[in-house]
Amino acid sequence: MNPTMTPGEEKTIPQTRRESKDESREPTPNAPRPTLDPLAQRSEAETARPSTASAVSALTVRHLSVFFGENHVLKDVSLDIAARAVTAIIGPSGCGKSTFLRALNRMHELVPEARMTGEIRLFGDDIYAPGIEPVVVRRRVGMVFQKSNPFPTMSITDNVTVGLRLNGLRDRKLLAERTEQSLRMAALWDEVKDRLNAPAISLSGGQQQRLCIARALAVQPEVLLMDEPASALDPLATSKIEDLILELKKDYTIVIVTHNMQQAARMSDFTAFLYLGELVEFDVTKKIFASPAKKQTEDYVTGRFG
Ligand SMILES: Nc1ncnc2c1ncn2[C@@H]1O[C@H](COP(=O)(O)OP(=O)(O)OP(=O)(O)O)[C@@H](O)[C@H]1O
Ligand SMILES: [Mg+2]
Repeated sequence: MNPTMTPGEEKTIPQTRRESKDESREPTPNAPRPTLDPLAQRSEAETARPSTASAVSALTVRHLSVFFGENHVLKDVSLDIAARAVTAIIGPSGCGKSTFLRALNRMHELVPEARMTGEIRLFGDDIYAPGIEPVVVRRRVGMVFQKSNPFPTMSITDNVTVGLRLNGLRDRKLLAERTEQSLRMAALWDEVKDRLNAPAISLSGGQQQRLCIARALAVQPEVLLMDEPASALDPLATSKIEDLILELKKDYTIVIVTHNMQQAARMSDFTAFLYLGELVEFDVTKKIFASPAKKQTEDYVTGRFG
């Protein structure tokens, strides 16, 4: 248990956020960057990052800890996630990768025993500030899960537009436009344009995953979180998802959890290595794979453990 908190103050995430042990820190994106900031490595960053990636941080995470009951799962994690770039989260099973991702769009609030301390800002906005609704955060920070989860009996179109309709959009023309745009972005349009009213369950696994990506994109989020999005897919479907991610990062900030080291090395601009809930190393991907600073990182990326 965090010694700075009393049990009564730890019930829910938004309340406990205020109990952070370091209230005096400067939370703006321009704050002095912690030592684990990859952008501090200017020359590396410039060579490793594509021209489309900006130096702006989409998300700034400061002193993030997450607990499930007495289980301290994420421990004082601070890092900046660059806008319009792909950041990979790697680490052995159970180290807290999904927990980290879920903290970025307030998914832990669905779990009664979860609590967190620290601060997360999205383009400067404190996503856990009082009065900020989780649904608003989730609109700005979309998520795609390991196992594709379309609404099986709903049509392809309805799956894509479900978020928009929940947000009150009724204009049929606009909904149709957004459907096509999202399916095109998810590289699925050509495969489904002639059967938009077919149920989602009639699609292959890889197509269903791209449908879920289209659904996430339809509400025009700023950040896309992907938790092992290709781990259940065959190599061809995986490579389609990878191509898609590389295309999407021109416009979106992407955070991807993967167990596949080749995938992380191929796709990401930055890589964070988590171990037992701690951020061991965070740097440009090239450095993490070619010359990591920590032995633990090297052992993990070369397959010596994990
Ligand atoms: N809803 C929850 N309730 C209780 N404990 C949880 C919950 N979600 C995660 N945990 C615990 O937090 C720890 C980290 O889990 P997490 O799912 O973040 O790991 P991971 O790195 O994503 O692992 P994997 O690679 O297997 O997906 C584990 O010990 C897990 O049991
Ligand atoms: Mg996980």
